[in-house]
Order: sequence, then structure tokens, then C-alpha cells
Amino acid sequence: MDNHRNSKVFSIKNCSLIEESQEKEYNMDEVAKHHIKSDCWLVLNGRVYDVTNYIKNHPGGNAILKAAGKDATELFNKTHPWVGESIYKAFCIGVLISKTKK
Ligand code: HEM
Repeated sequence: MDNHRNSKVFSIKNCSLIEESQEKEYNMDEVAKHHIKSDCWLVLNGRVYDVTNYIKNHPGGNAILKAAGKDATELFNKTHPWVGESIYKAFCIGVLISKTKK
């Protein structure tokens, strides 16, 4: 009985975690900490993306690492402005709240 109750609580918590993560706020200091291939975040148009698991599938290979831990919007638009958000929206982990440190 206790186990059953616990597993219910666990799944409810998981659900709210997914919803909260989409609204989570980060500044560039936090984004900058994730600047390596095994832990790679970047910013596109004011949204923060964890692309760590996408790097191996990226058609441009490790070029994406040029923007690791940074605002990738300019590089992204220079390289492939035609690539749509549907390709990367699943990696969104939150929004950028401050651009003070780049
Ligand atoms: C969320 C981030 C990114 C996504 C989803 C993404 C996605 C893609 C896709 C779908 C292509 C193939 C485009 C095509 O064939 O028309 C591509 C190619 C490429 N990407 Fe990205 N990209 C991202 C970030 C970046 C960044 C930050 C750079 C920085 C330089 C970059 C550099 C390149 C390059 C150089 C190619 C061309 C590869 C070639 O011509 O063979 N990408 N990317």
C-alpha cells in the first residue's frame, strides 16, 4: 500500500517537473557553465536549449560547439536560418532572463 502511494506521488512530481522546466529562467552565467561536448547548453532567440544529446546527430557536427555555453542566435542564423524550431524545441529547458554577461 505504501509503495503504491509512493509511486503515485513520484509520477505526479515528474509531471510537474516537466512543466516547470519549460518555464525555468536562466542567465548567461548559468548557461556559460555548460560549455563542453558532454554538457552543452546554448541560447537561441532568448530561449535556453540543452543540446548535449543532439550534438551526435547535428549535420554540422562539432561546429555546434562554437556556440557551447553562449548565445548561438547569430551563428545559427548565419549558418542555417532555414532550420525550423520544430527540430530543436524538444531541447528547450527554459528562458534567458538576463543578457548582462555574454
Ligand atoms: C539547436 C541548435 C542547432 C540545430 C538544431 C542545428 C541543426 C542543423 C541542421 C538541421 C543542419 C542541416 C541543414 C541543412 O542541411 O540544410 C545543420 C547544419 C549545420 N550546422 Fe547546425 N544546428 C544548430 C546549431 C548550430 C550552431 C550553433 C552552429 C555553429 C556554427 C551550427 C553549424 C552548422 C553547420 C556548419 C552546418 C552545415 C553542415 C554542412 O553543410 O554539411 N549549427 N544544423
